[in-house]
Amino acid sequence: MWLGAFCAAAQAGSLNERANAASCSACHGTEGRASQDSTIPALAGLGRAEMLRLMNAFKDGSRPATVMHQIAKGLTEAQLIGLADYFASVPRQP
Ligand code: HEC
Repeated sequence: MWLGAFCAAAQAGSLNERANAASCSACHGTEGRASQDSTIPALAGLGRAEMLRLMNAFKDGSRPATVMHQIAKGLTEAQLIGLADYFASVPRQP
């Protein structure tokens, strides 16, 4: 059991990414796959560079947003990179 916790700690990066990504799922759909009738864009398969560009634009206010500017401001650069890597790795279709 402790060994399990230890192994999990060794993968802390990816676990952290998944935990952060889960908080996006409430609006963007499970694993960033928005449901078809959703007006909120999908995140799955969004390229790493594109995600970072969008999130930084929300952060500095150059991209207008209703909620994302607040969410982006609450994330560190390291967390943004982790999220960008995670969503870039999720295929758009299951
Ligand atoms: C409360 C709902 C909500 C949550 C939670 C949320 N988003 Fe969003 N997201 C939106 C909405 C709504 C938009 C459209 C822009 C706006 O109005 O803010 C958006 C737009 C985006 C976009 C731009 C996509 C595009 O193609 O234009 C990105 C990137 C994004 N969100 C990333 C994230 C990430 C990463 C998280 C988790 C850390 C997250 N969002 C959590 C509601 C949410």
